[in-house]
Amino acid sequence: MHTDSHGTFLRWAVPLVAALAAISGCRLTEDPPAASVFTPAHATVGSAVNDFLNIRPTAEQPFPFPHKTHVAKGIMCTEYCHESAVKGPIAGLPGVKSCMICHESIATDRPLIKTVADYQKRGIDISWQRVYGYASESHVRFNHAPHLRAKVECTTCHGNIGQQTVAGRNVDLTMGFCVDCHKSKRAPNECLTCHF
Ligand code: HEC
Ligand code: HEC
Ligand code: HEC
Ligand code: HEC
Repeated sequence: MHTDSHGTFLRWAVPLVAALAAISGCRLTEDPPAASVFTPAHATVGSAVNDFLNIRPTAEQPFPFPHKTHVAKGIMCTEYCHESAVKGPIAGLPGVKSCMICHESIATDRPLIKTVADYQKRGIDISWQRVYGYASESHVRFNHAPHLRAKVECTTCHGNIGQQTVAGRNVDLTMGFCVDCHKSKRAPNECLTCHF
């Protein structure tokens, strides 16, 4: 049992919930003097509120990867690019080597593919920006594997990325979203199922 982290989590979680309820929805930009009392995990109240309300900058990818082109060719999400999703907590974002498995020979004349080949030649990777993921201060624990074993579709949590070019944040993976499904599927629903 993680009694220590449990204690830490509850120590800030309960007052934070109270604080958030009190300021319900307003987006603070200034750091009131009392901030450190109830949000030790965030630098400012603003950052805590933004986290809680899922306000985060839109990811800007270095390279417009066309998901739908690949999905239309019948390539599975977990085949070359996000294969670790079936095995553990981290779905993973593909390195340039994964791209070149195919693009060593496929569509080599297209400008974007030349860009990818050039990344490889120069020995640099594509610095994808994350679209999902929780700040460590949220103390959220997530694992893909049990969901895939329970046959929850990728689209349930990520929307229809197969119809998109660059992946967008289609679904807000809020606590309510997680808890509602866990309730309906009778999956474990204690705080420590998803928090540490
Ligand atoms: C399993 C094989 C496979 C892998 C792996 C793969 N691709 Fe592709 N990719 C394709 C196929 C097939 C096409 C369609 C080519 C066509 O239009 O004839 C394509 C098309 C593209 C295109 C569109 C090219 C154009 O302008 O028409 C881009 C860009 C692209 N891939 C980038 C990538 C990147 C970046 C990666 C790595 C993250 C990657 N691909 C991984 C098979 C793959
Ligand atoms: C039950 C909801 C759920 C399902 C089903 C699910 N995911 Fe996720 N996925 C998440 C969450 C939550 C995160 C963020 C996890 C984290 O940061 O700890 C995530 C993160 C990812 C990421 C990393 C994204 C990024 O921006 O870093 C990829 C890639 C991904 N998932 C792919 C998949 C694929 C492929 C499938 C289907 C095989 C799938 N997911 C199914 C909830 C889900
Ligand atoms: C559409 C339904 C659904 C959604 C949405 C969902 N889950 Fe789950 N979750 C499940 C099911 C079903 C299981 C498997 C329960 C089992 O193995 O008995 C599970 C299992 C888990 C487990 C492993 C529990 C354990 O102790 O074995 C964790 C952790 C988890 N979910 C976290 C999350 C988080 C965090 C979110 C929100 C990002 C989320 N889940 C969203 C259905 C869902
Ligand atoms: C099924 C998964 C799940 C369960 C069970 C769960 N949570 Fe959460 N919780 C989440 C997720 C996911 C987030 C992050 C939501 C986000 O960032 O939008 C979250 C966020 C929070 C936050 C806000 C943290 C922050 O920094 O923004 C608090 C506080 C919280 N949960 C408390 C609890 C408490 C207390 C319980 C038990 C009564 C609980 N949670 C049970 C998934 C869960």
